[in-house]
Amino acid sequence: MLDFKFGGPIEPELFWDREKEVGFLIDRLSKIKAGVKHNYALVGPRRMGKSSILGFIEPKLARKGIVPVFIDCEGREFASQAELSLELLLNSWGNSVLDAFFEHAGLANKIKVKLRDFIVGTKDKIISALSEALGRLRALEMKTASSYLELRLEFEKATSVRAPSPKELMKMLDDTLDLAERLGEEMDRYFVLMLDEFQNVSKFRKPIDFLPAFRRHMQAQRRVAYLLTGSNIGMMELLLQRPFGGHIPLEWIGTFERGVAKDFLKERFEALGRGIDDKTIGEIVDFTGGHPAYLNWFGERCCREVPAGGKITVELVQEFEEKIFEREGLMHVFEEDLSRVSPKRGKMYSTFIEMAGHDLESPSKISKFVPRSTPSEIILYLRRLEQRGFVRKQARGRYLIVDDMLKRYIKRKIHST
Ligand SMILES: Nc1ncnc2c1ncn2[C@@H]1O[C@H](COP(=O)(O)OP(=O)(O)O)[C@@H](O)[C@H]1O
Ligand SMILES: [Mg+2]
Repeated sequence: MLDFKFGGPIEPELFWDREKEVGFLIDRLSKIKAGVKHNYALVGPRRMGKSSILGFIEPKLARKGIVPVFIDCEGREFASQAELSLELLLNSWGNSVLDAFFEHAGLANKIKVKLRDFIVGTKDKIISALSEALGRLRALEMKTASSYLELRLEFEKATSVRAPSPKELMKMLDDTLDLAERLGEEMDRYFVLMLDEFQNVSKFRKPIDFLPAFRRHMQAQRRVAYLLTGSNIGMMELLLQRPFGGHIPLEWIGTFERGVAKDFLKERFEALGRGIDDKTIGEIVDFTGGHPAYLNWFGERCCREVPAGGKITVELVQEFEEKIFEREGLMHVFEEDLSRVSPKRGKMYSTFIEMAGHDLESPSKISKFVPRSTPSEIILYLRRLEQRGFVRKQARGRYLIVDDMLKRYIKRKIHST
């Protein structure tokens, strides 16, 4: 059923528009089957809909005969149990490739074990799940997948009582990053690897530098195309656009255009049996700036307040324009964002707060409001804020805050107090 939904990637049934982006990506990425490899990166602020796009194109790629593999480089699925390490990322990567392949090849029922469920947890459980999958695979005579699982088993057994050595990790990394390519060669398949929130891999530098290894494999592969996403825009630029030969174009994911946002609200409210006039729709679109997540938040809140058959008034919407910044609204979301600005709340934090509070864009002006700071110091903080995806550099050395709603939250709730 059509509905509003705020938070987390949206199901393909609820997905709205992005027609241009989706059409473009499907067209380009599927060229891998003709031996032409296009890689892309989707960048944009948090909650703009990047992961939703991945989820939406996944089945479309599958229908084109390509194996889509979704890999979460933030490790959110298991973040509550363990902090993301290179080892865990590799486990999750390898397991995701195998599961997606089995699914695509119609073997999921025969393998039975869903390997993605065994990334963290006790070694015993992981080892027994891997052995079980391996046993079933052997009967199917699939060399690449079997030898990968054998390596994983060996690795898990060896590291059940001690940390892996750099050499063991390196071997694991090489085999994992090449798994899709080798599976593709053996089974005549093509893959699109979707690496969500890719900038996280930049933390893996010791004992192994992940990025150069990734580039090396990526460039040599012929059967795998990559689609990356990242919310830390500046960081993505830094990681991907340095002249290392494997240039990956960045596609910007922004807010819905006004007309698209209006149509979205109209369709959903109508499907949910709520009356709303054009002016009220316009009010929501103006306030949210067409930001997909906030549009959904307003939709959800209005429908919770007004039962089916009722009418949504502009006064109600204006009430929510206040409430969104309160505890009952999205305060927790904005506070979490701010904790990513800088947990220590030092000068970088003040830079961001003063910039938002006084609508400032230039380092020299910001520096006047941040105690004991110089413009060149402020530039340094702005660059870090840019790397973390909170501001964007504009022409003539000016900087802009990317999430307008967060900026408004600061103005109302943080800056004045
Ligand atoms: N295409 C879309 N159609 C409808 N709602 C969307 C769409 N894209 C994003 N959203 C809204 O934005 C929220 C966050 O989307 P998500 O894909 O998780 O963003 P990101 O990965 O960029 O952080 C979703 O919960 C939903 O409310
Ligand atoms: Mg996401």
